[in-house]
Amino acid sequence: MTLTAMAPMLIEAKKEGYGIGAFNCINYTTIEAVVIAAREERSPLIIQTSPSTVKQLGHRALYNMVTSAIEDHPYPAALHLDHCHDLEMIRKCIDMGWTSILIDASHLPLEENIAITREVVQMARPKGVTVEGELGAIGGVEDDLVVDEKDAYVAVPAHAKRLLEESGADVLAPAIGTAHGNYKKEPKIAWDAVEEIQQIIPQPFVIHGGTGLDDETFRRLIQMGGAKINISTDLKYAYIDGFVNHYNAHPEEYNPLKVIGAARDKVTAMARRYMKLFGSAGRCG
Ligand code: 13P
Repeated sequence: MTLTAMAPMLIEAKKEGYGIGAFNCINYTTIEAVVIAAREERSPLIIQTSPSTVKQLGHRALYNMVTSAIEDHPYPAALHLDHCHDLEMIRKCIDMGWTSILIDASHLPLEENIAITREVVQMARPKGVTVEGELGAIGGVEDDLVVDEKDAYVAVPAHAKRLLEESGADVLAPAIGTAHGNYKKEPKIAWDAVEEIQQIIPQPFVIHGGTGLDDETFRRLIQMGGAKINISTDLKYAYIDGFVNHYNAHPEEYNPLKVIGAARDKVTAMARRYMKLFGSAGRCG
């Protein structure tokens, strides 16, 4: 299977009332792990890469890992660049074959956010690449992005509508009270803003800060049009715990393939749980 554009996957998910997990992968093992999960669960998949991962592995090597992992994969899979404001990296990823980009200009005033998002749409459109635009300030830590809790603020729905209409972006990442990383206290979802977004914006929206939300919150957000659900922290924990637990249980082994295999299996189990919870399991094939 070749990589698929993300927007049609999300439009279908929103129409049918399920969500698709977007997993922040960091190497070949984690890519392979989520592809195995998608195959076992017959689920559409979004492989998500942060700018740090692109920098560390190189965009060509990372792209080749993803295309190797999905070569015999029978179901739709998209490759998405997460939270990027570096236009040069965006251009390289589009040219290489990424099928979706999050241009994160949410730190800029609305007019500038719209202008830069539009510029990325113009780069992406001729190649059929999906563009996610972002609005508001999502708290917590993701990659090099650090937003203190006191500086986080919820997206204004009317601005979100303007961002999509005036830039031509396909999907919206609105700050709605979720946060990147582990929650230090119970998240307070801005349900009124989500309700308004659902009413005035026909496009699917993206839920950032998936790790640590409870099952009921996920179900309610998906019902209201949340079609892409980002999971990063949970993947990192599954990977490292799988690795460390195996090593601690078999310290005499010292076999890298065994610990890497254990890390992969734990990430696969984590992704399978989300695919069932989000309702994307069983949608393919
Ligand atoms: P978590 O790290 O909270 O799962 O958030 C992931 C995310 O939103 C990536 O953009």
